[in-house]
Amino acid sequence: MCGIIGVTGDDGALETILDGLRRLEYRGYDSAGVALAAAGALWRERAADGTHSVEDLAAAVAAAPPATAGIGHTRWATHGGPTVQNAHPHADCTGRVALVHNGIIENHAELAAPLVARGHAFASETDTEVLAHLLEEELARGASLAEAMRATLAKLRGAFSVVVLTSDDPDLIVAARRSVPLLAGLGEGTAFVASDVSALLGRADRYFALEDDQVAEVRPGSLVVTSLAGEEVDPTVVTVDPSWDVVAAQMGGFDDFMSKEIHEQPRAIADTLLDRRAGSGSLVLDELHLSPDELRAVDKVVVVACGSSFHAAMVAKHAIERWARLPAEVEIASELRYREPVLHERTLVVGASQSGETLDTLEALREARRAGARTIVVSNVVHSTMAREADGTIYTRAGPEVSVASTKCHLAQIVALEVLALALAQWRGTMGPSAVARVLDELHRLPAAVEDALGRAKEVGDVADALGGARDFFFIGRNLGYPVALEGALKLKEISYLRAEGYPAGELKHGPLALIEPGTVVVAVLDPLRDKMRSNVAEAAARGATVVAVAADDDLDVAGDHVLRVPSLTDPVLAPVVQVVPLQLLAYGLARRLGNDVDRPRNLAKTVTVE
Ligand code: AGP
Repeated sequence: MCGIIGVTGDDGALETILDGLRRLEYRGYDSAGVALAAAGALWRERAADGTHSVEDLAAAVAAAPPATAGIGHTRWATHGGPTVQNAHPHADCTGRVALVHNGIIENHAELAAPLVARGHAFASETDTEVLAHLLEEELARGASLAEAMRATLAKLRGAFSVVVLTSDDPDLIVAARRSVPLLAGLGEGTAFVASDVSALLGRADRYFALEDDQVAEVRPGSLVVTSLAGEEVDPTVVTVDPSWDVVAAQMGGFDDFMSKEIHEQPRAIADTLLDRRAGSGSLVLDELHLSPDELRAVDKVVVVACGSSFHAAMVAKHAIERWARLPAEVEIASELRYREPVLHERTLVVGASQSGETLDTLEALREARRAGARTIVVSNVVHSTMAREADGTIYTRAGPEVSVASTKCHLAQIVALEVLALALAQWRGTMGPSAVARVLDELHRLPAAVEDALGRAKEVGDVADALGGARDFFFIGRNLGYPVALEGALKLKEISYLRAEGYPAGELKHGPLALIEPGTVVVAVLDPLRDKMRSNVAEAAARGATVVAVAADDDLDVAGDHVLRVPSLTDPVLAPVVQVVPLQLLAYGLARRLGNDVDRPRNLAKTVTVE
C-alpha cells in the first residue's frame, strides 16, 4: 500500500507534491520520489531511507526546476527492496515517460520477458517498471498517452493504481486504476490525482473517484474520463465531509487507525493471496527462495514469534501437522533462545513477525541459524532485518499497520502461514493437486467471509454495551479455538486495560474455574469441538459467569447470554480468520467505551526492539 499523487496547473507543483506525500506517508515510507515536467524534459529525484524518505526527498530537491506539473510517490515495498533504484517514479528507456504505481502487477515477469528480449533495459527489481516500458512501446507506435494507457491496462493482471507524466505533453497527467482506490480533484485552474483524499484536502474543491479500468486525462482545471474501450464516461462525484482534516482523511472516515485497519482486513487477505496460484492451480511462492527439494528434506518445523504473531503461529502448527504431516512446534521467541532447543540442518524455523524487527524473534532466528537450521520469515515489512537475514520469506501485504494493536497483520499472517503449510504439503506430496486447489479456493473465499463478519459489528457493539461494567474476562477455546481465545484476550488487555485471560477450555477445571463467579465474563469460541465446548460453557455458567459464545451460523444449539455469530467455513483450519473478527470488535468497543486511545495504548510500542 503506497501513496501516489499527481498535480498539474499548479505553480507550486513541487511543494504540493511534497506536502501530499507527507500526508500519504502513513501508507508507506520505505522510499519517496518525485518527477516534474520542465523545459521539455522530465526531472526526477528519489530518496530511500526507510523511515524519513519524504523528508530526505524534500532535502534533495533544492535544485528542482520550476514546474507546474508533476507526480510523486511514497513507497511500501512489495517487490524489490527499499532502495533508490526501486523507488518510484520509474522511467522508460527514453526518459520521456515517468510513472508512479500503488498495488501489485501480478504478471509483471511474464510481460517483462519479451520487452527485455526486444532490448528494453530494466533499472529496478520492481513489478512497476514494466508499465513504463509497455507505455513506451505504445507511444512509439504513435498512440496518445491515454490510448497507450488503455492498451497497457488490457495486458495487466493484479490490483493497482497508476499515474503517468511525459515530457512530450507536460501539462497532461494520465491515471488509471483497478481495485486500488484513486481519486481526482479539480481546483481553480489546477487538477490533481491521489491515493486518498487526505493528500488533496484544501487543494481541490471538487472530487471524483475513478472506477475500475477507467482512464483519466487530467489537465489544468479539467478531467476527462474514458472506459477501457475509449468511450467518455461521467466521473463518479465524491462528496468529502467538509469537517475532515488530514488525520481524519488518513483514517478514511474511521474514528481511529484500529477501526480502519480492522475494516481493511478483507483487502489485506486478498492482497496477501495475490499471485500465489499458478495457471495450473498449484501454489507458487516466488519469494520463498527455498527449493521443493530443500523443503522435502525438512523433518520438523518450529514456528517462533511473540504476541499476536505467536497466536498466528499456533494456528499454523495445526495447518502444518494436518496438511504437511510434519511435526510442528510453536515457540515464544523470548523463551526459545535461552533454552537448548534441538535444532539442526533438517529443522525449518519459521519466524512470524509483522514488523520483522522484534528483537526476541530476531535473536531466536539467529540462534536457529547458528544451529544450522533453515529459516523462513513471514513478515509485513519487505526487507526488514529478519527478512534480510532469513533463507526465505513470505510477505503479508497488509500495508502499514499504524495502530499498536495488530489486527489486519494478524489475519494476513495466519493466511500467509497457512499458505506456507499448504506449500509444504504440495511439495512433500502429502496433499494432491486437487486437495491443494480446494484449500486455495477456500482461502480465496476468506475476504468475503471476513467482510461478512465485519458486517455484524453492530451486534458486537450491543454486546459491548451489555458488558460495559465487567472487569474480569476469560477467553476459552479448544484446538484451533484456543489461539483465537488467546488473541481475543490479548486484544482486550492491550487496549482496554481490563483483566483478560485466554485458556484452553479443557484446562478450566484444573484450576482457573476457581476464579469464576457472578460478573465474570467467559468468552467461548465454540468451534471446533462444539460438544466439548458446550460442557465447558455449562461449567462456567454454573458458577454464575456471563457467557459470550462465538458461534458459526450453522450451529443451531448455542447456549450463552450473548452470541457472536460468524460465517461457517468448511475447513476448520481457516475458521480462526473469521472467529478473531468479533473479538477484535469486542475489544475495540469496550476500550472505546472506556475512553481509551485505542491506537496508542499505554506502556506498549508497535515494534519491540528491546529484549
Ligand atoms: C499485538 O497487538 C501487539 N502489538 C504485539 O503483541 C505484537 O504482536 C508483538 O510485539 C509482535 O510483533 P511483531 O509481529 O512485529 O514481531
